[in-house]
Amino acid sequence: MSDEKVRRSHLPIHAVLNERFSPRAFSARPVTDTELELVLEAARWTCSSMNEQPWRFLVTRQGREGHAALLSALEPSNAVWADKAPVLILNMVSRELSRYGNENHHAWHDLGAATAQLTAQATALGMGLRQLAGFHPEVARAAFAIPAEFDLVSVVALGFPGDPNDLEEALREREWQYSTRKPLSELVSYGRFAHRHRGATPEG
Ligand SMILES: Cc1cc2nc3c(=O)[nH]c(=O)nc-3n(C[C@H](O)[C@H](O)[C@H](O)COP(=O)(O)O)c2cc1C
Repeated sequence: MSDEKVRRSHLPIHAVLNERFSPRAFSARPVTDTELELVLEAARWTCSSMNEQPWRFLVTRQGREGHAALLSALEPSNAVWADKAPVLILNMVSRELSRYGNENHHAWHDLGAATAQLTAQATALGMGLRQLAGFHPEVARAAFAIPAEFDLVSVVALGFPGDPNDLEEALREREWQYSTRKPLSELVSYGRFAHRHRGATPEG
């Protein structure tokens, strides 16, 4: 694959951000304990509202305790490829602020930030991951006896990217497609709020 194709933004953002993509194809290469610790450590050092660190990660590894249970909580459309990922991570947050006992309105926000840091570290190590909203939280909650104070937000399928040819045909096609993004002009306004719709010109 040429460098031109790997880089997706036309601007020189950091390679760890620009080369990241969400794979469905995973190689058989295992994730070592050290590699796993590094990606989790990267998440640990994320900033959070009041330094609450509301995120919790339940990690399972292929063939080991809990993995089959977490896999069985995934939507079948995800389980069909995620079973090749050597690591699954159930992302959770505590909704309660430890200091005041009231609701942490930024808990999900902070988990998203932690997942982004985890993702950047994984990419820097040559790994790939795909986050999944397509799972049944209550199935996972029951399987692991997770208390109600935790929201079960998403699952990460983590490993080393594999050969798209190993995927079933429909997924293979999607693995080869580069994902697109809304233009900055739709996402950002300066000085006053401007609600721009998809397709607006950068000036519009
Ligand atoms: C919170 C979240 C949930 C997602 N859920 C799923 C999912 O259930 N199944 C899936 O195949 N991809 C899922 N994705 C992957 C997105 O579809 C993907 O990130 C998006 O299309 C952009 O592609 P890229 O990550 O390769 O740039 C999810 C991503 C995020 C961040």
